[in-house]
Amino acid sequence: MPEGPLLAEPIRPLTEREFLNISRLAYEKFGLQLKPEKYELVTARLGKKVRAAGCRSFQEYYQRVVDDRTGEALIELIDALATNFTNFLREPAHFEFLLKEVLPECAARDRLAIWSTACSTGEEPYSIAFSVLDALAGGARPQLRILATDISSKALAEARRGVYPAAKLESLPPGWRRAFFLRGDGKWNGWYRVKPEIARQIEFRRINLIEPGSDLELFRVIFCRNVMIYFDKPTQQKLVGRLAAHLEPGGYLFIGHSESLTGIEHPLAYVRPTIYRRGER
Ligand SMILES: C[S@@+](CC[C@H](N)C(=O)[O-])C[C@H]1O[C@@H](n2cnc3c(N)ncnc32)[C@H](O)[C@@H]1O
Repeated sequence: MPEGPLLAEPIRPLTEREFLNISRLAYEKFGLQLKPEKYELVTARLGKKVRAAGCRSFQEYYQRVVDDRTGEALIELIDALATNFTNFLREPAHFEFLLKEVLPECAARDRLAIWSTACSTGEEPYSIAFSVLDALAGGARPQLRILATDISSKALAEARRGVYPAAKLESLPPGWRRAFFLRGDGKWNGWYRVKPEIARQIEFRRINLIEPGSDLELFRVIFCRNVMIYFDKPTQQKLVGRLAAHLEPGGYLFIGHSESLTGIEHPLAYVRPTIYRRGER
């Protein structure tokens, strides 16, 4: 007899208590706030995991995640719960600011370090690379260093792969497709891959934004966009404090357009909506 439930056997519906256990775990480990209105989302996204794991209930699956000493099950859980929506050149004002304000300030420097903190499937860090490389037009300075991080290993794997369908590239200016991508053929017809020499300039790494401390260097610009909305105020406050400590003097923090630092204490100066700056000293 095969072990585990038969395929057709339905799993028990998510109870309120199970939902609370899962949301507590997501909050403690990833800062993710799963409000009651996310009940359907959790049922749909985790239901697949419960079935795939051969469990009969959400409780049984939850217990497996908690008992798994390797941490792999926890990573899979966050992969299933996180929202990875993103786009090339999303919120274009940040890329314009980067070119018009930040690049000229850095023209005499050897190095420009930028951190994309919740990079999802890679469109954000690649947009940073394309924008800066296009503006430098082959100039050697400053040398660009991009760190792109996310908690989701699934999203990071896609980001590293750098392969996108043609429809995703429609928001890019004419000429960028040819400059920065290789066109797929055969069964990859309609797909594009970021040129390896460009992808190599980006370091992809898994970092949980709510875990304190890291061995990172200082950055001229930190993109932390469309992730703070999932955190509560105390988590946001701690995060912004840590990000500010990773900015060079005079460096910038970009946040998402539906996010705000209103109501949280932080050491940064307001520059314009969604852009903040660390003091020069
Ligand atoms: C909606 S996407 C934003 C992508 C991109 N920054 C943008 O604005 O288009 C949110 C990303 O935050 C990531 N995320 C959620 N919680 C996180 C955490 N605690 N640490 C790091 N990344 C996290 C998710 O995996 C997801 O890829």
